[in-house]
Amino acid sequence: ASTAATSVSISGDISSQLHGGYSHPLARAWQAERQLTKSMLIYPLFVTDNPDEETSIPSLPNQKRMGVNRLVPFLQPLVAKGLKSVILFGVPLNPAVKDALGTAADDPQGPVIAATRLLRRAFPRLFIVCDVCLCEYTTHGHCGILHEDGTLNNTLSVDRVSDVAMAYAEAGAHCVAPSDMNDGRIRAIKLKLIEAGIAHRIVLMSYSAKFSGCLYGPFRDAAGSQPSFGDRRCYQLPPGGRGLARRAIQRDIAEGADIIMVKPATQYLDIISDAKEIGKDMPVAAYHVSGEYSMIHAAAKAGVFDLKTMAFEATEGILRAGATIVVSYFTPDFLDWLDN
Ligand code: PBG
Ligand code: ZN
Repeated sequence: ASTAATSVSISGDISSQLHGGYSHPLARAWQAERQLTKSMLIYPLFVTDNPDEETSIPSLPNQKRMGVNRLVPFLQPLVAKGLKSVILFGVPLNPAVKDALGTAADDPQGPVIAATRLLRRAFPRLFIVCDVCLCEYTTHGHCGILHEDGTLNNTLSVDRVSDVAMAYAEAGAHCVAPSDMNDGRIRAIKLKLIEAGIAHRIVLMSYSAKFSGCLYGPFRDAAGSQPSFGDRRCYQLPPGGRGLARRAIQRDIAEGADIIMVKPATQYLDIISDAKEIGKDMPVAAYHVSGEYSMIHAAAKAGVFDLKTMAFEATEGILRAGATIVVSYFTPDFLDWLDN
């Protein structure tokens, strides 16, 4: 009895003893509010209008721009490993199809609509998201229709973007995700979906808090969507604009968004956390964008850290901040890594 008494007489400071709670790998995993699973991941695909195309993108390691004929063989092994969802970006390589209105965006023969129909047939359980924007299809490369002075004509842009969203939904997309940032587009899309009688089966995911900056460079190489003049700072959010992001999130929820997205991700973890607080009753998505992905690849190549370790660290940070959906170029890697 006297030995036992001695062993507990450590003057009672129990709260300082944390190590026991995470000494085992499983106990460490239990410390996370949510753990990364395959169903949280959406994989971005760049689909060109040249059906047999398969081109590497130098600034976006391991990612390819593909024609429709390449998609099924490419996705087959990924679906077998547990890929649940893709987001499609159309990349018209033929410059002649671009115009001031982005007419090619909803061309029934265009890459996004063709790919949507094909993937719905080939992989009945794969969840298809279509990014909705005009920048890949406009001659000027901006995300809407412009006034003569080069600024966005919001009314015409919202009308056009919502038509494009409708075309993708009618082609079979499970989810439409407008990334254009025109004011009022969520409401316009929701109303058209309701009017067409398909609102009940389409997820509307809004790129609500999409910040301007340098992290979209590799994407614009892949998609050929570099603006021909100016930049996107009058419609994408300023990096310091936390309050503005909160207002954009509140607005999009009020306009009928089913999911709100924050983009980029690791530079904006506070915004993800705000999104989770404001949208506590809905899923929050984060887009781990091309520049974030390429930066990790470059640093790993330079010997700064191990690629896989960093990919997990970045993604787990995104989940910790509040996201439960992550758009990630690391998706094929995670399908392997999460099995081990
Ligand atoms: C198109 C769009 C962009 C991204 C997603 N949709 C580019 C942009 O706004 O310039 C960026 C994704 C990435 O960088 O991975 N509006
Ligand atoms: Zn755009």
